[in-house]
Parts: sequence; C-alpha cells; structure tokens
Amino acid sequence: MIFINFKTYQQGTGEASLSLAKICLEVASQTGIKIIPIVQVADVWRLTNQGLDVWAQAVDAIEFGAHTGGILPEAVLAAGAKGILLNHSEKKLSLAEIEKILGKLNNCQTLVCTDSLSEGQTITNFKPTFLAYEPSELIGGEVSVSQARPEMIKEFIDSINEVPILVGAGVHTSQDVKKALELGARGVLVSSEVVLATDPKQALLNLTKGFK
Ligand code: G3P
Repeated sequence: MIFINFKTYQQGTGEASLSLAKICLEVASQTGIKIIPIVQVADVWRLTNQGLDVWAQAVDAIEFGAHTGGILPEAVLAAGAKGILLNHSEKKLSLAEIEKILGKLNNCQTLVCTDSLSEGQTITNFKPTFLAYEPSELIGGEVSVSQARPEMIKEFIDSINEVPILVGAGVHTSQDVKKALELGARGVLVSSEVVLATDPKQALLNLTKGFK
C-alpha cells in the first residue's frame, strides 16, 4: 500500500485536493495497489462528499466541549474520514495523547508515525492499525529511508510483530519502494514525490512499479 500525505502543499489544498485524490484512486484501480490519500482536515468533507475514500492528517486529543479551534476526532469521522494519521513529525503528540485518541478511535483505521523504535514499541501497546517509521531528518529530502536506514527498518520489523509497519521519508523511486518491501515493510508513505510532481499520475505510477 502507498499512503500519499498531501500535507499543506498548495497542490493538495482545496479544489486541488480533489483532483489529486482522484488521481490517487484512479492509479489504485488501474494497478490494484491500495493507495490512500491523506488530506487536510478542512478538505475531508469536500472529498468524501464526492464518494472518495480518504484519510485525515491529524486530530487532537479532545472531547466534545469548549475547545475552540480544536480538531475533534468525532467531527473528522462524521466528515467521513476512513482513517486518521497521527503523530507525524510535523504534528507531534505526547504518548498520553496518542493513547487517548486511539482509545476513542477503535472503529476507525489509524496510522501512527514515529522515528524511534522505543516510541514505536510503546505506541504498539495502544493498538494502532499501522505504525510508520519516518526518520524526520530525511523527510522532504532526496535520500530515502530505504537507502539511508535499511538496518532500522529491519530492526523495526523484527522487533514489532503485532502491527504492520510502513516506512516513509525521501521516497522517490520504485527502487526505494521495492527495497522497503524487501525489508519487510507493508508499504510506504510518500509526499513530495507525488504531491509536488509536474505529473502526479506518472510519479505515482512509477512508484507502483516497486510492487512488481
Ligand atoms: O508522511 C510522509 C512524509 O513525511 C514524507 O515526505 O516529502 O519525504 O515524501 P516526503
């Protein structure tokens, strides 16, 4: 599977999020590979309203009540998000917040990011659907996690059996994807290679070749 994190890039915001999500789902049905757009919370309803399956980028550890500006998990689910990304290195949470949110989201898919094995092991106890290893220093760069940290990917996969592991950061080529899968990852998280591409469809099709 390939998760495409739209972040807050202009190319994945507002109306542009609709065309990019359609491309992701079109490539998914063309290739048979599960491709999941992870969009800004403000764009979730715009897309689910059109019948598109998307995930949201974050929620806060809050309840119904007086939390002006907060991202209420229940509201994101009511907007139709099929899953929720948590603890991205650009939107870190405390372990207590992750535990609280995952406790509320037991009917929804979740993907929790981490850049350390010890944090990953603790998060596993809170039962996310997926765990993603993303070394923050490689995010948005040219060198992929598969090239730079193969031994860490292996260690994650050997040490954590309870939850499927994905990897992300700097993934640009089908070779990066292939290597991650060979090391035992279930899939990859990608942003800039697809969201910032001149031709996002082609960029995504290129990445799917790593599954062959
Ligand atoms: O969540 C995925 C993201 O952090 C990776 O970003 O631009 O390195 O693919 P990028």
